Amino acid sequence: MRRYLRVVVLCLACGFCSLLYAFSQLAVSLEEGAGGSGGKPQAAAASWLGGGGRGAARGAGSAGPAAHPGRSDRYSLKLQPIERMHLAVVACGERLEETVTMLKSALIFSIKPLQFHIFAEDQLHDSFKVILDSWSFLQTFNYSLYPITFPSENAAEWKKLFKPCASQRLFLPLILKEVDSLLYVDTDILFLRPVDDIWSLLKKFNSTQIAAMAPEHEEPRIGWYNRFARHPYYGKTGVNSGVMLMNMTRMRRKYFKNDMTTVRLRWGDILMPLLKKYKLNITWGDQDLLNIIFFHNPESLFVFPCQWNYRPDHCIYGSNCQEAEEEGIFILHGNRGVYHDDKQPAFRAIYEALRNCSFEDDSIHSLLKPLELELQKTVHTYCGKIYKVFIKQLTKSIQDRYDRPPKER
Ligand SMILES: *[C@@H]1O[C@H](CO)[C@@H](O)[C@H](O)[C@H]1NC(C)=O
Ligand SMILES: *[C@@H]1O[C@H](CO)[C@@H](O)[C@H](O)[C@H]1NC(C)=O
Ligand SMILES: *[C@@H]1O[C@H](CO)[C@@H](O)[C@H](O)[C@H]1NC(C)=O
Ligand SMILES: *[C@@H]1O[C@H](CO)[C@@H](O)[C@H](O)[C@H]1NC(C)=O
Ligand SMILES: *[C@@H]1O[C@H](CO)[C@@H](O)[C@H](O)[C@H]1NC(C)=O
Repeated sequence: MRRYLRVVVLCLACGFCSLLYAFSQLAVSLEEGAGGSGGKPQAAAASWLGGGGRGAARGAGSAGPAAHPGRSDRYSLKLQPIERMHLAVVACGERLEETVTMLKSALIFSIKPLQFHIFAEDQLHDSFKVILDSWSFLQTFNYSLYPITFPSENAAEWKKLFKPCASQRLFLPLILKEVDSLLYVDTDILFLRPVDDIWSLLKKFNSTQIAAMAPEHEEPRIGWYNRFARHPYYGKTGVNSGVMLMNMTRMRRKYFKNDMTTVRLRWGDILMPLLKKYKLNITWGDQDLLNIIFFHNPESLFVFPCQWNYRPDHCIYGSNCQEAEEEGIFILHGNRGVYHDDKQPAFRAIYEALRNCSFEDDSIHSLLKPLELELQKTVHTYCGKIYKVFIKQLTKSIQDRYDRPPKER
């Protein structure tokens, strides 16, 4: 009898325990369903949702599961694994400040953590290191510095093509062999929206697309390729390679149609013959080679609208990027040196505002008013005419990132 009683008690105890466990599981899943508004789950959620910068640095004080993928915390295991967004840039000559401002703009607005791949001339490495290490409190990015390298055959020729080292970008799929996807940008890019937004386009690629770029021009009457090119180019007006999203896994796998041999060639094998064939006919270096490649392989290119690569060309002859006026300017591309001269004061004002600000919330909020005043002064210029579009975009991006919980984005 006593033994029987003991068994009953044991069973009751076991039942009670499993009931408790079931309730605790239920509670956890409810909390997570509600966006992690509870105690501990919130810390975990906040540290990666706020992973774009301020939230993580100030909040949980931890880089979250992204930085500790092995952490066995039950709550973080339940969260999606964090994919890092890879951003690459090639900096040579006097491009330090510009590159740093670009990287800063990426960090100010982005949500998911970033991994920077910085290809730079040796004499710039120390300066990059000092500046980026001083941002390490953000805990939302890491970086690698690489020297500029070209295949030993024709190295000199690649190096002097168009601008010094610009053609480095063509070799990124071959150098960064471990990286699946990458956003390449020129140094004169400023992000006015989170990098997450353009990164999400990778998932929109159909099965044959391997890279994404914006058209070189919206208006064929002022297009360069369609009027002057002495080589094939993509589409009606060509594409601009200043902002190039790549699925490098696919680029490395693909065999490319071409006009040099009847067999299809891999990325690593196509570049050299292409340079040999076209070097006397190309003007914009590596961008022209990309245009030739995608002329022959149009099914492989995803073309995104001009607001992802907004250049002075889109406003100096009148406004010709309709999408930007309607939906906003997502990525600004101050080519032809407009951040540093007086030709396009609207572009310059935005560059200086971002260059001057720090990562503090206050600093970012207080960037808008003086910028608006500055931009109003440019209203007599073509690009200044649409200054309200610039202000609207920045206001929205700052609100999204700093004034609302990330969940509502
Ligand atoms: C950056 O972080 C990723 C993910 O945690 C890691 O795989 C990579 O090795 C890191 N890179 C550097 C240079 O620390
Ligand atoms: C280069 O341009 C010249 C002059 O327009 C043209 O005749 C020639 O076919 C071009 N070369 C190639 C490889 O397309
Ligand atoms: C890139 O393409 C590969 C092969 O199709 C695919 O497995 C991978 O998920 C793609 N990457 C992204 C970020 O979509
Ligand atoms: C993918 O999209 C491109 C561009 O719109 C198109 O040319 C290509 O045929 C599409 N591929 C597939 C498999 O649908
Ligand atoms: C940025 O700082 C410079 C001086 O460092 C100043 O001349 C300029 O007016 C500032 N610009 C903006 C937009 O804050």
